[in-house]
Amino acid sequence: MAQSERIVSGSRQDDDYSQDNSLRPRRLVDYIGQDRVKQNLDIGIRAAQQRGDPLDHLLVYGPPGLGKTTLANIIAIEMGVQIKITSGPAIERPGDMVAILTQLPEHAVLFIDEIHRLSRVVEEILYSAMEDFFVSWVIDKGLKARSMNLTIKPFTLIGATTRFGMVSAPLRDRFGSVYRLEFYDEEAMRTIVTRSARILEIESDEDGIIEIARRARGTPRVANRLLRRVRDYAQVMADNVINAEVANEALTGLEVDQLGLEGLDHRVLSSIIEKFDGGPVGLDTLAASISEESDTIEDVYEPYLLQLGFLDRTKRGRVATRRAYEHLGIDYPEEPRSPQGALF
Ligand SMILES: Nc1ncnc2c1ncn2[C@@H]1O[C@H](COP(=O)(O)OP(=O)(O)OP(=O)(O)O)[C@@H](O)[C@H]1O
Ligand SMILES: [Mg+2]
Repeated sequence: MAQSERIVSGSRQDDDYSQDNSLRPRRLVDYIGQDRVKQNLDIGIRAAQQRGDPLDHLLVYGPPGLGKTTLANIIAIEMGVQIKITSGPAIERPGDMVAILTQLPEHAVLFIDEIHRLSRVVEEILYSAMEDFFVSWVIDKGLKARSMNLTIKPFTLIGATTRFGMVSAPLRDRFGSVYRLEFYDEEAMRTIVTRSARILEIESDEDGIIEIARRARGTPRVANRLLRRVRDYAQVMADNVINAEVANEALTGLEVDQLGLEGLDHRVLSSIIEKFDGGPVGLDTLAASISEESDTIEDVYEPYLLQLGFLDRTKRGRVATRRAYEHLGIDYPEEPRSPQGALF
């Protein structure tokens, strides 16, 4: 199954689009969890408003589906400014970047999703724009080439990325603040599922909510998707009401286990354990062993497996932990078996 079709993938899928919009909180107080981020943002927003300045540029990073786009929209609403939404791969040439920047209204938010995918030449246009609100633009070619400075209106750049390490240092340094979104804890997940069920007018009891929240990998987008699938099941099989039993049956049928792991997570772990003696194994070797892209493993599977403490990332590669063995029901070897497979 392609990564994009996994039911527990944090990445956006086709049928998430309309749902993402209707379920997206619009104000900071409705944004659940991420308390540290919210608190700092709240102070930043109020201070900027008191001074009549735009908010400092900010970079938001974290795995897919944790609420980066939602947060950018909320910031624009709270600041009372317009938002222009684009993404790294969508801005192909420096001229496209110049056009976007020069057309931004005063104090607007420019949201660039997947900012690590901007090409270097496009990125360079941003440097002076972010620091001094001007862009240098080369017109004509060859001998007649000359550069022109255009001033732009003060604005706030919000960059989002799932790959913090791939944002270049000069770009990173130009952000006034960097926020890392964390997986949501169980209580926050419950609040999110409860809120979504209310908005979608889904009838459910508390245990049904808990069952969905627990299996949603600490990721709001996954929670909303599971909720929708369980609703379908409840509609056809159980009088439209979601309780623990219905949720459990529905999710088990979808092969989502008690912790929200499904086939591909299991394959990552069992491959490390069975083919590589528990590791360490390099990312590329691991990826090849289960016919997946290294990037997909790193962006999509690993963050949650690391969060659960099922996987360790060491200098020599990935290692499956005792908890991973236990979850898969495989005996944990107490003695190191080989230098490569040494446990540490
Ligand atoms: N803090 C939150 N409280 C309630 N719901 C949330 C929260 N964060 C995200 N959501 C829900 O999760 C959905 C996905 O969030 P969002 O699109 O902002 O994720 P993202 O981090 O931008 O993902 P991607 O990396 O794929 O762009 C939203 O539609 C929203 O309903
Ligand atoms: Mg997004």
